[in-house]
Amino acid sequence: MSKKILCVVGARPNFMKIAPVIAALKVGPTPFEICLLHTGQHYDTAMNDQFFTALNIPRPNINLDVGSGSHAVQTSEIMRRFEPVLDQEMPDAILVVGDVNSTIACALVAAKKGIKVIHVEAGLRSYDRAMPEEINRVLTDQISDILFTTEREAEENLHREGIERERVHFVGNVMIDTLKSQLPYATPVTTILDQAGVSPSFLGSKKAYAVLTLHRPANVDDVAVLGAVLSAIGKVSRSLPVIFPIHPRTRSRIEGFGLMELITLANISLLPPQGYLEMLGLMKDARMVLTDSGGIQEETTALGVPCITLRHNTERPITVTEGTNTIAGTDPEKIQAVVNEILQIGGKVGKAPEFWDGKASHRIAAVLHDWFGRFPRRQVT
Ligand code: UD1
Repeated sequence: MSKKILCVVGARPNFMKIAPVIAALKVGPTPFEICLLHTGQHYDTAMNDQFFTALNIPRPNINLDVGSGSHAVQTSEIMRRFEPVLDQEMPDAILVVGDVNSTIACALVAAKKGIKVIHVEAGLRSYDRAMPEEINRVLTDQISDILFTTEREAEENLHREGIERERVHFVGNVMIDTLKSQLPYATPVTTILDQAGVSPSFLGSKKAYAVLTLHRPANVDDVAVLGAVLSAIGKVSRSLPVIFPIHPRTRSRIEGFGLMELITLANISLLPPQGYLEMLGLMKDARMVLTDSGGIQEETTALGVPCITLRHNTERPITVTEGTNTIAGTDPEKIQAVVNEILQIGGKVGKAPEFWDGKASHRIAAVLHDWFGRFPRRQVT
């Protein structure tokens, strides 16, 4: 009898991670039975539906439609709505990815019901508890039964927190599985600008540009920090046009704080949140990417494009030690110095980290087949 795994997604960065995992679990001589649950944490078409279409993710079997709210409201509402689903679906395990509120909420409910928890992208640590995602990571890992890591250092982080090595499997990066399979279909930057109504002359004759993304609460919820970062980017845009696909929360903060002129008066082109293939197209040909996202630090390393991280730390250190990433923080002078260095002598070249080879989800499937072989199906009580 095939084992049933309930896969959870909730927010934009989950979608590119779950796509190859589901595909890998569904093939082989004894495919897993997959139930896909969407918590509804992200719900806008631009943050949600278009990823399912582009990445060929099956329609979710269940949607909890939880929507936005404070961390407590969002997390507790997911938990409340998830519990009866587990009672009904009776999976052998749930599989969660990444570090968003949906990840910890569903892991917590399942663990307390005695259902096995599988965590993909375990063990990453920024050691910055001011980041909500760091709390989600630490707690999810503590209650997971099987943990899949993207870089070797993650296993050491987990070991220090008392997690037995037998539970941890270094398999590589599933997000890079998606990147490698989708790269040939990336949308050209000129098409993206055209669709957004931006004249291609915005890029100038050299087609050299920077891409900016910004959405971390630490950067966008504080008027002084957001103002300083946007002023710094405005200066960068004097040497290089900046394309800025804007997250909904960032747009509402910029509008609310009255900072929109820092964009409109600079050489910055604002775009709506982009789909996966569009974002890939924007990043792949960029001179550099400036970001506070976690996933983009990894994607730029895989693409060999210089990345400037607008944070004071990273939970993905391999992107700095082996990849193209430089941590610049939010100090305008430091940001400008890194930008100048890239413009003058080129950015870090980097290399693809171990197992970022497009096969991570197949390794996960192999481990799970082996692991489930050792556990009987959960008894219905
Ligand atoms: C969440 C994740 C973050 C991830 C990010 C990617 C947590 C704690 N954070 O942050 O790790 O990098 O997703 O985007 O889970 N909103 C919309 N439409 C949507 C979704 C959100 O307008 O479809 C707006 C709402 O105003 C909402 C705000 O964005 O209040 C924040 O959304 P939320 O899901 O709480 O967190 P993110 O900032 O997106």
